[in-house]
Amino acid sequence: MTVFVTGATGALGGKIVDRLAGGDATVIAGARNPDRANALREKVAEVRRCDYDDPASMRTAFEGVDVLMLIPSLAAVEPRIRQHADTLTAAKEAGVSRVAFASFMAAEPDSRFHVAPFLLYAESKLRLSGLDWTIARDGMYLDPVADWIPDLIRVGKLPYPVRHGRVSYIGRDDLARAFAALCTGDGHSERLYKLTGPRAVSMQELAAAVSRHTGEEITYERVSEERFIEICKAGEEPEELINVLLSMYRAVEHGEFEEATDHVKQLTGEPAASLEEFFAGSGG
Ligand SMILES: NC(=O)c1ccc[n+]([C@@H]2O[C@H](COP(=O)([O-])OP(=O)(O)OC[C@H]3O[C@@H](n4cnc5c(N)ncnc54)[C@H](OP(=O)(O)O)[C@@H]3O)[C@@H](O)[C@H]2O)c1
Repeated sequence: MTVFVTGATGALGGKIVDRLAGGDATVIAGARNPDRANALREKVAEVRRCDYDDPASMRTAFEGVDVLMLIPSLAAVEPRIRQHADTLTAAKEAGVSRVAFASFMAAEPDSRFHVAPFLLYAESKLRLSGLDWTIARDGMYLDPVADWIPDLIRVGKLPYPVRHGRVSYIGRDDLARAFAALCTGDGHSERLYKLTGPRAVSMQELAAAVSRHTGEEITYERVSEERFIEICKAGEEPEELINVLLSMYRAVEHGEFEEATDHVKQLTGEPAASLEEFFAGSGG
């Protein structure tokens, strides 16, 4: 079986490649810019150029591929829709059997998340494509919280524009384990998974877990959206991303990331890490 991982130079794609490498599948890493994929070369059978904005590159890249692990870009909604349609057309033309799509828990019609229209389109377009499909909606990443720890220690506060919302956070390592399993295993066609952490936690519980892990007192501070925008700007986040993040935290408050499943365990035999287990292994 040949598995092609798109966005393999990215954080999630790279971890999926790591999980697949050394297994029975032939792994091909797809990179928008293969010059940036040198670290992948020794792990995979091949690195191929795969640019969602260049359909011809994808038509060539997907030749001989059985399973396409499709990780969307961070483009704005409308260009991302075009990228997805072109990717599926190329996959069909190249004779791909099954597409495993990394979606997001906010793929709901009433979602507050600005990118939800893309997710709804992407899931539906895949299901209508005639290709075999597996959809896995990712929970919210825990990794950015670990990356943020030095700043959190400096200010002693974890600031989000969230009052009651809870999140069943998951680390990219657990997502990668689950994706590797569903790419290579049988019986995953026409299945929807929700890949979340083991339980939903409040922002206060998150701050307490960071405090326990670091040994520093970090308290949760609910901030206004205006204050959150200032914090993001101080962190030099691009304007478009700030708007997306703001809508993501409205979705948190709307309860869109509260559902917790055991699908990671079902797929891999091992549950997703708790906050404590994640931070203990993060080196953060
Ligand atoms: N669950 C969550 O909390 C969460 C949070 C943020 C995002 N996401 C979603 O999950 C995806 C993967 O996350 P990540 O952490 O791995 O992001 P990431 O590190 O930014 O990786 C994104 C990947 O997409 C590739 N890419 C971008 N534009 C492309 C194009 N036109 N053609 C082909 N490849 C392209 C990038 O290639 P280059 O290396 O060339 O840039 C990179 O390999 C994101 O793209 C986003 O849709 C989920």
